[in-house]
Amino acid sequence: MASLGFGIDIGGSGMKAAIVDLDNGTLVSERLRIPTPKPATPAAMAAVAAELVHRHQWSGPIGVGFPGIVRHGVVHSAANLDASWVGVDADRVFTAACGADTHMVNDADAAGLAEVRWGAGRGVAGVVLVLTFGTGIGSGLFVDGILVPNTELGHLELDGRDAESHAAASVREREGIGWAEWTPRVERYLRHVEMLFSPDLIVIGGGASKAADQWLPSISISTPIVGAAMANNAGIVGAALVARVAAR
Ligand code: BGC
Repeated sequence: MASLGFGIDIGGSGMKAAIVDLDNGTLVSERLRIPTPKPATPAAMAAVAAELVHRHQWSGPIGVGFPGIVRHGVVHSAANLDASWVGVDADRVFTAACGADTHMVNDADAAGLAEVRWGAGRGVAGVVLVLTFGTGIGSGLFVDGILVPNTELGHLELDGRDAESHAAASVREREGIGWAEWTPRVERYLRHVEMLFSPDLIVIGGGASKAADQWLPSISISTPIVGAAMANNAGIVGAALVARVAAR
């Protein structure tokens, strides 16, 4: 019998969830999406998480990818959500709302765990950097398959500004610029990151990876770079994986 898990991926605009087959990292249910509440407070978001669990009729441990720093279940930053998240024991709040053990991790770390295990980073030795381009820029750094959590490379300061405020996928939409104008911003950012970390592979995930053919081929850097194999589902899959590991 397949070993199943449940993952929720919290984004700036939507909360997405599915049941995951943890033997192969695929989704085995519909992927449900509920818009992220505004304001995106802990209580409002915990209620949406409970609704997602209920709609999937899931019982068992729950993994949640969160767009901020999460250390041992406690949120330390939430750049694109409500500031009241900071200092909240998210594991406790979501566990109470969902009625099942819930484990929260950074969203890009979750996506990276899935990509390294089943996707584009599978079997790659050395330094693998998974970068997600969505509302913000997320980063998951792996050394020989081991995660270095909460690297937050989207907030590197570059050219006097926070990198994600210039090169996240949401900025392209907000400023109404085309791929041709946005891609050089990403390339500039990637060159900076490769200079700092000398990765063996960069994997690009997040919302912008769905349209990778529009822009990824025109990126020219020294490091091998590929689109996420699990597209935008990696966050859900990785979160489900974390919950299973924590439940052992
Ligand atoms: C947050 C990161 C997150 C990234 C992608 C950034 O603004 O600081 O924690 O991984 O957005 O959601």
